[in-house]
Amino acid sequence: MDNEIRKKVMLSGIQPSGDLHLGNYLGAVKNWGERADEFDCYYFMADLHTLTVRQNPAELRRRTLEQLAQYIACGLEPEKNTLFVQSHVHEHAELGWILNCYTMFGELSRMTQFKDKSAKNADNINGGLFTYPSLMAADILLYQADFVPVGEDQRQHCELTRDVAIRFNNIYGDVFRVPEPYIPKAGARVMGLGNPVSKMSKSDPNGCVFLMEKPEDIARKFKRAVTDSDTEHCVRYDREAKPGVANLMNIYSAVTGKTFEEIEKEFDGCGYGVFKPAVGDAVIETLRPIREEASRLLADKAYLQQVYTDGAEKASHIARKTLRKVYKKVGLVEKPF
Ligand code: TYM
Repeated sequence: MDNEIRKKVMLSGIQPSGDLHLGNYLGAVKNWGERADEFDCYYFMADLHTLTVRQNPAELRRRTLEQLAQYIACGLEPEKNTLFVQSHVHEHAELGWILNCYTMFGELSRMTQFKDKSAKNADNINGGLFTYPSLMAADILLYQADFVPVGEDQRQHCELTRDVAIRFNNIYGDVFRVPEPYIPKAGARVMGLGNPVSKMSKSDPNGCVFLMEKPEDIARKFKRAVTDSDTEHCVRYDREAKPGVANLMNIYSAVTGKTFEEIEKEFDGCGYGVFKPAVGDAVIETLRPIREEASRLLADKAYLQQVYTDGAEKASHIARKTLRKVYKKVGLVEKPF
C-alpha cells in the first residue's frame, strides 16, 4: 500500500435501476457532498449491478445520465468529486471475478438483499444476483476506500467487503485497505409513506417520493402518509408503537437538522393534520433546487458527457493500479502491453 500522505478515500454508488428517491437522498447522496474537501471522493452510477434484474435498455441509459445530473444537483461538484459510470471502468468487472473466488457460497447465501430480490424475482434468480456482493466489494476495494457512505440496508454488504478484504490480505499481504461503512444518524432508513414498516423503495411508487417529482405530488403523498390510529394524534417518537410518525419525524429531522425533542416541541398539541403537510413542505423545499438544477443540467448533454469521461479517466487510473497488484499477487502472468 502507498505510504505517501494521502487523503482518506470516500466512495459510494447507486444503481440506476429506478429514479432516485428520498431514501437514496437522505440515506446516501446528501451525506456525500459534505466532505468533498476533506476526502478524495468517488461516486458512480452502478449500472452493472442493475443487470441482475431485467432492465429496459433505453430506460437504463436515460436513468444513468439523469442520475449523474442529480448527483451534481445534490452538490457533488465534478471539480471536487470523481463522478463516473461503473461500466466505463472495466476493472470493476475484472476484480469482481477475482473476488468471487474469495467469497464463500455460505456468505453470499446469507445476504438479505439476495433473499429479498430472489423472492421478488422468482423467475430470474440468476448468478449475478447471487454474486452481486463480490462486485460491490470490487467497487470499493479497487479505490482503497476508507469510508463507504450508505444507508443502513447496505451495512451487510459493507461488512462482507471487509471480510473479503481481510481474507485476501491474510493470504497475500497488505493489498486492500479495509473500509468502513459511514451511515448517517438521521435518514439511514427511510420507510415507505404508505407502509412504514418496509423501507422506502421505488417498487411502491405511492409510498415513495422521487427527487424529480412535482411539489403538488409530493404534498399529496405526505398528506396521505400512514400514521397511526392513536386518537390523541400526538407527535411523539416511538418506533414500535408509532412507526409512521417516527418515520415522518426521521425525515423531518434529516431535512431540517432538528432533533426529535425539538420536533415534538414544535408540534406539541398540533395533531397530524398540521404535522404531515409541514413535513411535506420541508421536503418540497429541500428537493426544489435539486430538481431545478438537475433539469437544467439534463439539457446540457455535452457537459454531462464531459463529466463522466473525465471521471472514468481518473477512476481508471486508480483502479488499474490496484488490479495490476492483485493480478500479480494471485499469480497471473503480467500483461506484455
Ligand atoms: P441502492 O442502489 O439500492 O441504494 C443506493 C443508496 O441509497 C440507500 N437507500 C436508502 N437509505 C435510506 N432509506 C432508504 N429507504 C433507502 N433506500 C436506499 C442505500 O443504502 C444506498 O446507500 N449495492 C448498492 C449499490 C452499490 C454500492 C457499491 C454502494 C453498488 N456498489 C459500492 C456503495 C459502494 C445498492 O444496491 O444501493
